[in-house]
Amino acid sequence: MAIAFFSTVMTQVNADPINPILKAEIDEEVTAPEIAKPIKNDIKQARNYPMQPPLVPHNIRGYEINLNVNKCMACHNRTRTEESQAPMISVTHYMDRDGNFLAEISPRRYFCNQCHVPQTDAKPVVKNEFVDMEKMVIKAEKEEE
Ligand code: HEC
Ligand code: HEC
Repeated sequence: MAIAFFSTVMTQVNADPINPILKAEIDEEVTAPEIAKPIKNDIKQARNYPMQPPLVPHNIRGYEINLNVNKCMACHNRTRTEESQAPMISVTHYMDRDGNFLAEISPRRYFCNQCHVPQTDAKPVVKNEFVDMEKMVIKAEKEEE
């Protein structure tokens, strides 16, 4: 069982169409693919569904989040937004799991990158067939007519 699982994983890796290094022979020298560039145009991207954590539209390189500092909060904290002109973390970020409002960011929301990610200009490896639910509703309504 374990061996069968392992061999499936290996086949997938060998068939990898994006990373030529994984396909290279042991004595072959290949050029590494270019690292994708981060998208940092400061333009807000539409959310694909209401509960989606918005994507980060700026660079986050070097922004530390650890026990002592949270670089994101230097701009996104309630008290910092006037100066930074960054959107405030929403009220859910101040709620504990019982729905109580805290004065400070909730520990549940401390590690921003758990939910908020920047994007790169990398080409999608597989076609994205995601359909926005608004489009689905419109389609369903048309079909009913
Ligand atoms: C130097 C200030 C600054 C820091 C630090 C910063 N941001 Fe931002 N952030 C902004 C500003 C300003 C915007 C508004 C769009 C823009 O100008 O890029 C923004 C936009 C965003 C948005 C988009 C919100 C939306 O409604 O679409 C997210 C998500 C976000 N930041 C997350 C983060 C995370 C996560 C970090 C830490 C890794 C971080 N930011 C650190 C200033 C900052
Ligand atoms: C557990 C997931 C999670 C974590 C961790 C998290 N967020 Fe969010 N964030 C969300 C979701 C979901 C939304 C959209 C719904 C909402 O506002 O609750 C959001 C919304 C936002 C927005 C948009 C607010 C608005 O009103 O437009 C900003 C800015 C933001 N988050 C920044 C941050 C920063 C900075 C951190 C870290 C200090 C952080 N978030 C941590 C899930 C998360």
